[in-house]
Amino acid sequence: MKLLIYGDVVGKLGREGVKHTLSFWREKYSPDVVIANVENIMHGKGIGPAQIRELRDAGVNIFTGGNHSVEGKDVEKILNDETIAITRPANMREDLPGRGAVLYQIRNQKSDSPAGRAGIRNEGRVSLESETAESKAEVFQDFSQSRHGGTRLSNSPAGEYAGLEKSAAETKLLVINLIGQVFMHQEYASPFIAIDKILEEYKGKTPFIILDWHADATSEKTIMGRYLDGKVSAVFGTHTHVPTADAKILPKGTAYISDIGMVGPYESIIGVEIEPSIERFVKNIKTPKNPVETGPIEVNAILLELSDGISKPASAKATAGKAVDIRHLREIVTEYKI
Ligand SMILES: [Fe+2]
Repeated sequence: MKLLIYGDVVGKLGREGVKHTLSFWREKYSPDVVIANVENIMHGKGIGPAQIRELRDAGVNIFTGGNHSVEGKDVEKILNDETIAITRPANMREDLPGRGAVLYQIRNQKSDSPAGRAGIRNEGRVSLESETAESKAEVFQDFSQSRHGGTRLSNSPAGEYAGLEKSAAETKLLVINLIGQVFMHQEYASPFIAIDKILEEYKGKTPFIILDWHADATSEKTIMGRYLDGKVSAVFGTHTHVPTADAKILPKGTAYISDIGMVGPYESIIGVEIEPSIERFVKNIKTPKNPVETGPIEVNAILLELSDGISKPASAKATAGKAVDIRHLREIVTEYKI
């Protein structure tokens, strides 16, 4: 299974960066699923229906989040809509809208169309704001049917998945979202306890398990990677907006990167205007944090390749499909029209 995963998509330029690169990378890499972290898509902070629709229409299948996931327009409606494959960190307060994990069914891997290869269908037919229950079911049937589905996979040496028919149409991906506790402005529950609970809850559903690990400190990030080695297929960091050069496969088969980096303005301080940011630090005063909306766009993503084979013999206790490859992708887009 191939996954194209964008880091934090920041504002208008971030959305443009995804649209600009997705068709090219889809042709080049043929990903089975496309994922983006969207907590910054609405003018740098929060989410909104128009922006989610824009990325979905561009070909993004699954949306993950972070500390700004519960800010924006109609967030409760979006995050609670079970027909949209969207997560917010699982270890945020339980009474907040949304969910921390989704089980997504990958579709049509053999289709010749780019949309089919990316598991997309019925693109752009229904708006998030005006959909009826019936039309939602039609447009997002793949997701709504899969969230609590129990289809299992074959070709795994582990007994847990043995003897089950392998079919691209039945391949499922568990996407989990967590937020860190170090250097964050709010306090969150233990991400380690949260992930243990989620992995137990979804045990046996699929070997393809990935985590968007939205955290600030690289120490905390790498600890989570090692803690989950063999238990999930990939741990990819988001939140800092700065890519790290540490993409690797851990000993028990888990792909890891501390941070993918953002999709957003190249001439900026992690997405926002430079001068007010400098003033904030130099003078120790509050200044506006407006996203930059002109100039080059830096696009950071990873290309992940996963196998449903459980890693062995070094990791006899591994319970997740091992990663075959993790590659950081980076483009600077200088010519575009918005
Ligand atoms: Fe964040």
